[in-house]
Amino acid sequence: MTEQDFVLKSYKPSVEKGSVKWSSPSNIALVKYWGKKKNQIPENPSISFTLNDCKTVTELSFTLKNEDKISFDIYFEGERSESFRPKIETFFERIAPYVPFIKSYHFKIETTNTFPHSSGIASSASGMSALAMCIMSLEKQLIPEMTDAYFNRKASFLARLGSGSACRSIEGDLVVWGTHKNVEKSSDLYGVKLEQELHDVFKDYQDTILLVDEGEKQVSSTVGHNLMHGHPFAAQRFKQAHSNLDELLNILKTGELDKFIAIVESEALTLHAMMMTSAPYYILMKPNTLKIINTIWEFRAKTGSKVCFTLDAGANVHVLYPKSEKAKVYEFIKTQLVAYCQNGAYICDAVGLGAKQLH
Ligand code: DP6
Repeated sequence: MTEQDFVLKSYKPSVEKGSVKWSSPSNIALVKYWGKKKNQIPENPSISFTLNDCKTVTELSFTLKNEDKISFDIYFEGERSESFRPKIETFFERIAPYVPFIKSYHFKIETTNTFPHSSGIASSASGMSALAMCIMSLEKQLIPEMTDAYFNRKASFLARLGSGSACRSIEGDLVVWGTHKNVEKSSDLYGVKLEQELHDVFKDYQDTILLVDEGEKQVSSTVGHNLMHGHPFAAQRFKQAHSNLDELLNILKTGELDKFIAIVESEALTLHAMMMTSAPYYILMKPNTLKIINTIWEFRAKTGSKVCFTLDAGANVHVLYPKSEKAKVYEFIKTQLVAYCQNGAYICDAVGLGAKQLH
């Protein structure tokens, strides 16, 4: 599908008022999106596990108005919030050519997260995807004959314009975003659910997120992506993401966990290596991030466990492991890793199936 397929050409704002509500999860990339072109087009394909419990719940109430301009109020965890306004304003402006009806309504956006706001977990993926689903629910009321497949695809397309990784949160259990020669229907414009055979071990993979640093990141992802322009290793990195995804596609069928670990950990460290070799350079890992990584490596060497780690653009560590090892790894986390978490905080999550409509 092309961008033109997402432009709503003729509609009547036939619905006066109403409200819709969606929950949408976060996701954790196995092959990372790092570097983008104009209009939120990724430099390389990425793949992620959709999560189950780290979610944003958003209710969108809408009232038809006369003036043709973007207008909304936003409430975060019950309180009127102005800090999210610029990001949502930009999002609405970017998506307006595709959903022109948004200018005919005044919106009240009420949003909450199931994880602590200060946890350093990126809420942009869950937040932008939840809002995109709400906007699509309104479009569906205007165009009732819309198919579910188009609904999800356009929601992912819109979410991408809010935050790249958000386009991978609409569906589960694994989603690819970015054109890749071996993923049918893959696109730079939206995420697609991985349709190939998936080994059972990955269907309920566990992700315990260790909250190492709850502070604000020194360098935002958006700035980090931009530093990939003119980065001395960028071309090689984008090529590597293609081949890592290729290999991972096979591993996801066979369930070879040693190979899975090698790719996932290498992707995490490569992401941070790109940050450390940007101009200007920067480091988002903290001393406790490295302590956790080393402790995981020691535990794996000693016990033969298949536990591994990945990182997003921050200091927190996602500890990934098969469900069959849940009791053993949980004990390991509690006795050896929680001490490295800020205030002992961590979140237990697992692979999930994507956004859900609440009303
Ligand atoms: C490191 O999606 O947060 O988590 O498109 O600028 O909003 P924007 O960036 P964002 O980048 C996330 C990057 C990452 C890797 C990934 O999720 O693939």
